Amino acid sequence: MDSMASAKDRSLPKSSLLQKVTPLEGRRFVVVSNRAPFAHVRDGAGVTVEKPPSGLTLALEPMMQATQGTWIANASGNADHEFVDERGHVRQTEEIGYHLRRLFLPPRLTEDFYTGFSNSALWPLCHIAYHQPRFEERWWRAYVRANGLFAEAVADEIGEDPAVVFVQDFQLALLPAMIRERRPQALIAQFWHIPWPNPEAFRVCPWRRELLHGLLGNDLLGFHLLYHCNNFLDTVDRELQVRVERESHGVMAQDRLTTVAAFPLSVDYARIHRRVQQPDAREAAARLRRQRAQNRKLVLSVERMDYTKGILERIGAIHRLFDRHPELKETVSFVHIATPSRTGVRAYRDYTAAVDRAILRVNTAHGRPDWQPVQAIHQYVEPEKIWNWYHAADAVVVSSLHDGMNLVSKEYVAAGRDDGVLFLSEFTGASRELREAVFINPYATDAFADAMAAGLAMPEAERRERMRRLRLRVANADVGAWVHDILRAIHQREFDAQNALFTPRARARGWKGPAAVRAGGGDLEAAAAPGPARAGSY
Ligand code: F6P
Repeated sequence: MDSMASAKDRSLPKSSLLQKVTPLEGRRFVVVSNRAPFAHVRDGAGVTVEKPPSGLTLALEPMMQATQGTWIANASGNADHEFVDERGHVRQTEEIGYHLRRLFLPPRLTEDFYTGFSNSALWPLCHIAYHQPRFEERWWRAYVRANGLFAEAVADEIGEDPAVVFVQDFQLALLPAMIRERRPQALIAQFWHIPWPNPEAFRVCPWRRELLHGLLGNDLLGFHLLYHCNNFLDTVDRELQVRVERESHGVMAQDRLTTVAAFPLSVDYARIHRRVQQPDAREAAARLRRQRAQNRKLVLSVERMDYTKGILERIGAIHRLFDRHPELKETVSFVHIATPSRTGVRAYRDYTAAVDRAILRVNTAHGRPDWQPVQAIHQYVEPEKIWNWYHAADAVVVSSLHDGMNLVSKEYVAAGRDDGVLFLSEFTGASRELREAVFINPYATDAFADAMAAGLAMPEAERRERMRRLRLRVANADVGAWVHDILRAIHQREFDAQNALFTPRARARGWKGPAAVRAGGGDLEAAAAPGPARAGSY
């Protein structure tokens, strides 16, 4: 069996803000997500530990290591059950530095909750990528049931402990209110990793109010962008009889406050950057270049095979590039790594077939006996190998039609060469930060093709200067900053809750404050201690 994880390699970079993560008023830290950070998979050769193609899980691992918390997630490996105790806790996790509790949702329930409601209703609903969401009652019931099972696991895990529970993403929108009902002492936060659409788009969901009530069980609700926060507040305002406080970005519902704030997710810049400088990684990158590009330019794309990633639009633009700039033939090779994803959803299977056909078309139209414009790798590639690919590439293209953030672009900035070029869709959250990228509109095929031609011809000095600035941006706002800002905001909510204890109304009700108050802490002076979260975050 593979080692659980190369824990030494993951040791936190000295400069990381994660070093400064403070204990959360003595509370336990519990993360809940549908997708688990790793799975035990058995095949003919034995059992291996596999990591999913999920930016979410990669981003959260440093947070888990810093807080030494417990992660609760749905099992996904065929050998997962062999490595857990009777409560689902994975044994021997010392090496990875946090605990994982696996939930074993029945396969039929997973099908309706995950493939059905999560990925066929909520995913297209929130990504405005011209793909119609489907709302089946059976899927909705499964979604409620699956969220309920997660709530039971959280309640069992934390018992009466005054824990912080940090819920992840759109698969678990009902969970916060369900946890609050069972464990009122918990401090609950959630991060929504995908876009939040405008109220007009969201109102087609028949269970929109239930979803909103579920989310308002949170003390803190985070999105990547202020734009998504505003869309959420507008939606709540439109759909529910609650008080929306525009200035403080809060929603008061049944005397409880949910604070809504933006926390742009990022990557572990120092770790990735350091890793690709190692001699073995450099050698691997050079090998990839030799094998895949020979003496041509190598342009790379990396994503899950998903229609929101604009893969068809990109292949269309590559086709157009060689139509409009035939002199570029044989000078550049496009490599496209798309990990199979959500294959239970019909739209994803159809999309894969359409991508295969589009690649065949461009290769047939423009290929030469010893050169194919597009080389496709449709399989899972481990994160560290992907970093070597980035280092091998002359450029990376991110062509999402709509993306909450897009961590591929930030990983490329961390791992790529000093003279690399980033082509970035203007419809990604990352485009708000990575201003030195070459922006493309994946819907505008001709302009997209011309932007690629111009980017490939960019003088070296300009490429280097753009990359230098991009690196500074990502290094200054790495995943450590994200974790730090979220934990700090959670901290503030803790003190807000404690302050509520001192109001005459709360006293009259005999309301018991959270952990620190019960433990004798929570004086007003301490409550005033943390300053506002990073400027612009709220
Ligand atoms: O980042 C959005 C997201 O849907 C995560 O919730 C998820 O883990 C990741 O993409 C990959 O998707 P999945 O878990 O469905 O394979």
